[in-house]
Amino acid sequence: MKKIKDKPQESEDLLLEKDRLWQPRIVAFLCNWCSYAGADLAGTSRIKYNPQIRIIRVPCSGRVNPLFILRAFIDGADGVLVSGCHPGDCHYSTGNYFARRKFALLKRLIEFCGMDERRIHFSWVSAAEGSKWSQVVNDVVNAVYQAGPFTGFDLPVFSKETEIETPADLCKQGPERFAYSIDLMSRTGKK
Ligand code: FES
Repeated sequence: MKKIKDKPQESEDLLLEKDRLWQPRIVAFLCNWCSYAGADLAGTSRIKYNPQIRIIRVPCSGRVNPLFILRAFIDGADGVLVSGCHPGDCHYSTGNYFARRKFALLKRLIEFCGMDERRIHFSWVSAAEGSKWSQVVNDVVNAVYQAGPFTGFDLPVFSKETEIETPADLCKQGPERFAYSIDLMSRTGKK
């Protein structure tokens, strides 16, 4: 005779199996002139690295709006990597310095939102550093793997009108709202 409690047990097993099979999805924004060329070099040199990374080519790391990163998380990424030319090597002179500043602010916002900081990474990889690229990817994938699947932002953010809004809402409403949340974060004294 078949046991009735077989069914919940089965779904629990399925969940465990799903957990076991889970692989992180990582979006990488790479500048065209250095990091993308470095990743290309890794490919043409047949250097193996973790395939969980999905590359988006941008003209410069300075082009990466923090909203792109939040959007990636909202759309299902578990981790994000931004990589550009080494300081002083940017094709547009100072784009990577702007990227570094934006990234520092974003890291604080991410922390404020209760998100694991192992999910976002920034690196410098030149066109000649194919092996460094593979190392960076493996490190990022490991860090995101440790952090586990991304399930959403934990903490609400308060808007000007004292309504509660999530970072996802802020993201949908545009850069002004996002900028406001950064401002709010700095005023709360969170580091
Ligand atoms: Fe590579 Fe600006 S062109 S970071």
